[in-house]
Amino acid sequence: IDELLAEGVTGKRVFVRADLNVPLAGGLITDDGRIRAVLPTVRALAAAGAKVIVASHLGRPKGAPDPAFSLLPAAERLGELLGAPVAFAQDTVGPSAHEAVDGLQPGQVAVVENLRFNAGETSKDDTERGEFADRLAALADVYVGDGFGAVHRKHASVYDLPARLPHYAGYLIATEVGVLKKLTEDVARPYVVALGGSKVSDKLAVIDQLLGKADRILIGGGMAFTFLKAKGYEVGTSLLQEDQIPAVTEYMERAVKQGVELVLPVDVVVAPGFPDLKAKAPTEHSAVEAHAMPEGQLGLDIGPKTAALYAAKLSDAKTVFWNGPMGVFEHPDYAEGTKAVAQALVDSKGFTVVGGGDSAAAVRTLGFDENAFGHISTGGGASLEYLEGKTLPGLAALED
Ligand code: 3PG
Repeated sequence: IDELLAEGVTGKRVFVRADLNVPLAGGLITDDGRIRAVLPTVRALAAAGAKVIVASHLGRPKGAPDPAFSLLPAAERLGELLGAPVAFAQDTVGPSAHEAVDGLQPGQVAVVENLRFNAGETSKDDTERGEFADRLAALADVYVGDGFGAVHRKHASVYDLPARLPHYAGYLIATEVGVLKKLTEDVARPYVVALGGSKVSDKLAVIDQLLGKADRILIGGGMAFTFLKAKGYEVGTSLLQEDQIPAVTEYMERAVKQGVELVLPVDVVVAPGFPDLKAKAPTEHSAVEAHAMPEGQLGLDIGPKTAALYAAKLSDAKTVFWNGPMGVFEHPDYAEGTKAVAQALVDSKGFTVVGGGDSAAAVRTLGFDENAFGHISTGGGASLEYLEGKTLPGLAALED
């Protein structure tokens, strides 16, 4: 983007593909981290006199307008954060979008409606995606890719549009790639990775890569129960992916062979059922040894002994990557494990990276100062796929 700014953008229509896919509850944004993350790019372009068009997806609507997924709340928050009015187009490439863009003066910003209200955005058919990309291209003179959270998606606005316009990477993508690249190259050791989240199937590919890279991998969240079951423990009614047990078993064996410490919870917090995340009322729960989970109980967090163990395992790390909450942190009874890991990162003298929409939202909603972390990635799937070594369509398109 510095190159683009040096060439001059005054009066040019610059399409910024951002990732404003923020969590919403009852129409209100619960974490605006992704909007704040794109501000440097939008501000720089506006200050240089560009007509800035910001576009993003929000949620997973089914290729047609759906008011529940309107980008309007994100557009309003962007305006508040910029301290300047932001025009909002009620469609993405239709008359409203053209009217909004035509009405922009140099230095002004417009947001177009959710890209995924158009079937062409996510289509698997190259022609359909291409047609939608043509309509997006008609809105702008230049493309700036800055939606790091979506670069792993082969979608029209991420992959096909840059091929149709002069294209540049924004500041957020440049920062994210710079940090994640460091983790794949010469990391300072010990390199400790904490992995949580619900599904082990989402994390298999990254564990596969990390077994050749990390010194320690700490496992938490719902995915830990598939590991505990593979170890021969009973896990009550906890989340379990039986079909992943062979893969998990193989990884545990490989970890031993390769001298990687793969650490599992020694205790867990269990309850008779899933808590009400809205009411957040106190629930009946207890901490039990991981090898003695009672029948009919559901594991919802790592236990206090595990939290202390993981904090100790993180204490001498020179590099840390953390992806995925350790428990159901949205309820105070099951947030302690996630808090303990976040605190260990805050206390760490090493370089700490938080990857993933959920863990990034967790650190902020649990009240941690985001400046206490080395880097908080805006990408969930995107940061994992980067570490897996995959080619990410949105990055490939910008490099092309
Ligand atoms: C994310 O939340 O990880 C990104 O915004 C991508 O969203 P998606 O998983 O719906 O493509």
